[in-house]
Amino acid sequence: PEMTRDDHASSEAINKVRFVRSYAKINLTLDVLGKRPDGYHELATIMQTIDLYDTLCFSILDEDRVSMVCNRPELSNEHNLVVRAAQAIRQKLGLIRGLAIELNKRIPVAAGLGGGSSNAAATLLALQHWWQLPLSMHDLWEIASSLGSDIPFFLTGGLALCEGRGEQITPLAAHWPAPMRWLVLLKPAISVSTATVFRQLTASDYSNGSWSRAAETALQTRSALHPDDLYNSLERGVLEQYPEVAQAHTDMLQAGASFVRLSGSGPTLFSTFATLPAATRVQQHLQARGYEVYLTRPIAANNSEISFF
Ligand code: C5P
Repeated sequence: PEMTRDDHASSEAINKVRFVRSYAKINLTLDVLGKRPDGYHELATIMQTIDLYDTLCFSILDEDRVSMVCNRPELSNEHNLVVRAAQAIRQKLGLIRGLAIELNKRIPVAAGLGGGSSNAAATLLALQHWWQLPLSMHDLWEIASSLGSDIPFFLTGGLALCEGRGEQITPLAAHWPAPMRWLVLLKPAISVSTATVFRQLTASDYSNGSWSRAAETALQTRSALHPDDLYNSLERGVLEQYPEVAQAHTDMLQAGASFVRLSGSGPTLFSTFATLPAATRVQQHLQARGYEVYLTRPIAANNSEISFF
């Protein structure tokens, strides 16, 4: 159920309820360097948070447990990263404190947009802030990386280079290139398992990290990035394996996108546009063909401006 502000209009209730936004990401580059002894893959990827978000509502539960409800009922269970993040914090600090979480999903699930990871990071940040916990950023980073490779990025968000499994974060202090101001995302109507996509990589998909290094340099020295600078090692495999994604890729180009890239392990595809009318044209074209499409923009780092309202 959607919760409206009227549901907790009294000042007492407002003190006991916190809302946060949890933003999605896209990958501008994603170099897979190779397979590691621990089974993960060594990555270099540049990620950017975007203005497509879920909302999380936290309130006090008068029992010593964590409850969670979601507008997508299949996600309302104790395996959800939101619950696991809250439990990890309670366990680390030995807190006896009940918590009710309401998760309103708008970010497509299992789409390559980092929605679940973002929700987990937003939970860590929200509880740290709301409960005034004695956790350093490093403590939060440790909990985040133990829960999933993409979660540490979302503790800061914005534009960052992520290495290792994805958990080694270098924020990039660069202005977003104006010619890429508007983003059109297309989410094909299939789900893709990240683990499967990684498993199906072949040695020829590996790169030495040069795409991410070059893009980092381009962003930091010139704040300029050309579509040809974008790259994703996972794209070939996903386009080959999933005809729906290959078809959507073709249809985006036909609708007027000058290039199309895969985000993360997909299946979401994106392109960029300098102007809103150009982006809107392509969005409408694809919507008319029945596709699930999002028109969005990059959004700055969220660490300092996590929105409690
Ligand atoms: O870390 P996380 O649990 O989010 O990763 C999901 C799956 O994606 C892993 O189980 C692994 O199969 C794959 N993965 C990988 N290399 C990475 C990150 C994820 O192989 N750097």
